[in-house]
Amino acid sequence: MKSIPSLSYSIHFNETCYKELNSYLETSNFSKIFILVDSNTHTHCLPKFLSNINVDLTLEIIEIEAGEIHKTLDTCTQVWQTLSDLDGDRKSLIINLGGGVVTDLGGFVASAFKRGVSFINVPTSLLSMVDASVGGKTGVDLGTIKNQIGVINFSDMVLVDVSFLDTLPSEEMRSGLAEMLKHGLIKDKKYWNRLRNLEALKSSDLEDLIHESVHIKNEVVKRDPNEQGERKQLNFGHTLGHAIESFCLDNNYIKTLLHGEAIAAGMIMEGYLSFKTCGLTEDELAEIKNTFKEIYGTVALTENDKSSIVELLKYDKKNSHGQIKYALLESIGTCKVDVIVEDYLIDQAFKYYAS
Ligand code: GLY
Repeated sequence: MKSIPSLSYSIHFNETCYKELNSYLETSNFSKIFILVDSNTHTHCLPKFLSNINVDLTLEIIEIEAGEIHKTLDTCTQVWQTLSDLDGDRKSLIINLGGGVVTDLGGFVASAFKRGVSFINVPTSLLSMVDASVGGKTGVDLGTIKNQIGVINFSDMVLVDVSFLDTLPSEEMRSGLAEMLKHGLIKDKKYWNRLRNLEALKSSDLEDLIHESVHIKNEVVKRDPNEQGERKQLNFGHTLGHAIESFCLDNNYIKTLLHGEAIAAGMIMEGYLSFKTCGLTEDELAEIKNTFKEIYGTVALTENDKSSIVELLKYDKKNSHGQIKYALLESIGTCKVDVIVEDYLIDQAFKYYAS
């Protein structure tokens, strides 16, 4: 599968990953390699990764706890302390082997340790393969507010070995699919149609779809790496989706949602806002709603929940000057950024989602 060049690095796939990694390690002057894993990837992914890596350097494994609630500055501090205790220096390399939590947090840890050391992302979840590991966004949550602390800093390479998906639970596969569907909605109607007609999610069918999603995201990132304009399109469904995700993380009486489950709800609601303000047709809106509801069902939210979620919108990173700014669809395949919508439409969007 063809490697995808990005701004300062490349994204490699399957067997090419290990060839590229080994030749990079041979020609670079790293002092030590730290592999960051979580409890799941330590068991399921590290043995395969280690069996493919060919290097004379000392390898140290650092494990963090799995799950979004551990994507915090406290966890970063623990990792920084371990790096320091194990004599990490400026020529250290950090390899982030895991899902979105590991690649986001590990990228941030690397970006700040000794003012920045090299890192490589090896995504092991579908979500991280098609979104989190690509494009240089690194960071952690602040309390339960998503990704409030972080920097944009590119990894030395991204290695997508699709066989890691063989041990991924099906709900995690569905979660990643939501970001892929988003890529179709914002950029490519044909791709959206291909994805929504997928019968079952198997890693073998998915390979070229993953490649296509990475390609779509990478093209956007190359044109707008610092999210001044077009890159905001990648946040379609995320303004309300992140608020819903944070709300569920913070309230024990409601099930914690995976990122993809939350943005699926966000995409239906923001689809409604798109219909009301940006020209998305009623048929397109119905297609979006039916597709996401069929895969992800409906999250039951009360009026009180809705008010708390709306309160959380003020933390969205696309906001400025006190205004909440949405990325919304003009049609399936085209997206507009910096759209401001009236409050009553948000209320209607929640009702439309529940209906
Ligand atoms: N996950 C959205 C972006 O990387 O811009």
